[in-house]
Amino acid sequence: MPRVLAITSEKGGVGKSTLAVHLAGAFTERGLSTVLIDEDGRVGSSLRWAERAGEAGLSFPVLTPDDVKPKKLAAADAVLIDTEGRPKRKELRRLSERVDLILVPSGVSALELDSTRELLDFLLEAGDVGRKTRIVLTRVPPVGHAGEDARENLRDEGLTVCNTLVRQYAAYQKAAELGTLARDVRDTRAAVAWADILALSRELL
Ligand SMILES: Nc1ncnc2c1ncn2[C@@H]1O[C@H](COP(=O)(O)OP(=O)(O)OP(=O)(O)O)[C@@H](O)[C@H]1O
Ligand SMILES: [Mg+2]
Repeated sequence: MPRVLAITSEKGGVGKSTLAVHLAGAFTERGLSTVLIDEDGRVGSSLRWAERAGEAGLSFPVLTPDDVKPKKLAAADAVLIDTEGRPKRKELRRLSERVDLILVPSGVSALELDSTRELLDFLLEAGDVGRKTRIVLTRVPPVGHAGEDARENLRDEGLTVCNTLVRQYAAYQKAAELGTLARDVRDTRAAVAWADILALSRELL
């Protein structure tokens, strides 16, 4: 059975789709058969990303929940789910029943960290769900220590945080516009951006 990872957050625009698409690309590059399921039909979703890729396409399938063939899914190594922003709490609890891991991307600003804490507190209170949840710090300023500081503070509070900090680079925005991966855009920081993603992917599978 595949490892199923869902990416969700309390706030919108935190980097869910960017992470979903890039992690799927990293798993695929590592030779893992990967499927990305887009449960968020709006603009900015993974599906739209794949559409912008046009004929070149992405190296992995991006499916709507309706397109999913259970047999094919069972044969995959990794399944990523890009969820709708601001899910209802009931949906979150249900999500936790069908996935192995819930990733909650968060920026390092005080406001974003607070909303991430709130979501984690809720999930931890719900029991089993909390143990499946990990925070991923993303859009981390490449200069300074804001990412490291946030990671240590959250850990001191007893929360589980991925070691890898996904730093903020324009290569991700370019990739979104072109429907490709940061690895493949013309940008001096494309390689360092991709190194973050590969490191994160290795933490997860
Ligand atoms: N590591 C990063 N570095 C720079 N920009 C980033 C990074 N991650 C995400 N972004 C940018 O932040 C914006 C929001 O990202 P994204 O669309 O992935 O968020 P989302 O959580 O999926 O949003 P929504 O809630 O609308 O689905 C985009 O413009 C994206 O290019
Ligand atoms: Mg999105």
